[in-house]
Amino acid sequence: MQEQVNILAIETSCDETAAAVVQNGREVLAEQLYSQADIHREYGGVVPEIASRSHVEKLPHIVPAAIDGAGGKEQIDAVAVTYGPGLVGALLTGVSYAKALAYAWGKPLVPVNHIAGHICANYISHKELKPPFICLVISGGHTQIVKTLDYTSYETLGQTRDDAAGEAIDKVARVLGLPYPGGPNLQQLALAGDSARYEMPRVFKGESHLDFSFSGLKTAVINMLHRMDQAGEAYKKEDVAASFLKAVADTLANNTFEAARRQGMDVLAVAGGVSANTQVRQAFEARAAKEGIKLYFPEMKYCTDNAAMIASAGYYAYMDGRRGDMTLNAKPVLELL
Ligand code: KG4
Ligand code: ZN
Repeated sequence: MQEQVNILAIETSCDETAAAVVQNGREVLAEQLYSQADIHREYGGVVPEIASRSHVEKLPHIVPAAIDGAGGKEQIDAVAVTYGPGLVGALLTGVSYAKALAYAWGKPLVPVNHIAGHICANYISHKELKPPFICLVISGGHTQIVKTLDYTSYETLGQTRDDAAGEAIDKVARVLGLPYPGGPNLQQLALAGDSARYEMPRVFKGESHLDFSFSGLKTAVINMLHRMDQAGEAYKKEDVAASFLKAVADTLANNTFEAARRQGMDVLAVAGGVSANTQVRQAFEARAAKEGIKLYFPEMKYCTDNAAMIASAGYYAYMDGRRGDMTLNAKPVLELL
């Protein structure tokens, strides 16, 4: 068996154009990332068509820079790429680029599920972490509690029935007048607020399933703001942000720790953009300390979309013999299996 396996990965599922080379799924040799946040800010959210065009422009700069950073194409054993879930046009730009590279170099092509990538971000940040463990994936598009069975197979234990946590956070941020991207801005506002100021609905508490619902919580906050605005009632946005994020964090923690308890597992990881959130980290850390659970978060830069996490997932998929061919297509909707 080969001792060192270097995977080049390309990630273009949303508004980050990213490429990275990672060794044996854990060591980042080179990474490049271009965030389109400044472009989408004036529209208040990601505009899919603009995202695709920007990826097409940036890929020929970002990918070669990552390859050079790793010592050239001779160092690369396979090309991994995110093929779903995500924005179809955005995904297609990365898939096409990866297919072209793999074909031109005569190297294997490895399709990667974006959600699996988020989970694998923890392998880069924590060299000792091994499956099985429970992982909560919280991103702009997904909220799911996953059991990692091994490095390439997963079982979903619970998921959102409506909005993803990040989606609800971004909506509330928008209603509070904060610029895109909402999550980090809402967090900053909340840090100066009182999280006990407003009572928030805690949905699905104590039920037998482990699913989430964030739409009701989001609507409750938006209705509360409208009511106070109409009544001319003074309020501090900081307190609304803090109370809302506390409710989100508590809900996420309740179901995830319950999943760990039911599975009899004492290792828990969190991943995805919302895992960068201070309130979420605090809620999970408090519970983990109390319940004697070993808790992992990726480093900040590997919480949000990046290519190092795709290269890590790509490595494990490669070792498992998974390959794509020239018919590989983007899959905007893709289950994690
Ligand atoms: O994983 P990600 O980068 O992209 C998707 O796969 O969706 O997650 C993006 C989401 C957005 O909703 C963003 O507002 C949220 O993660 N996010 C945060 C923070 N950083 C990113 N939410 C709360 N606090 C943060 N610090
Ligand atoms: Zn993501």
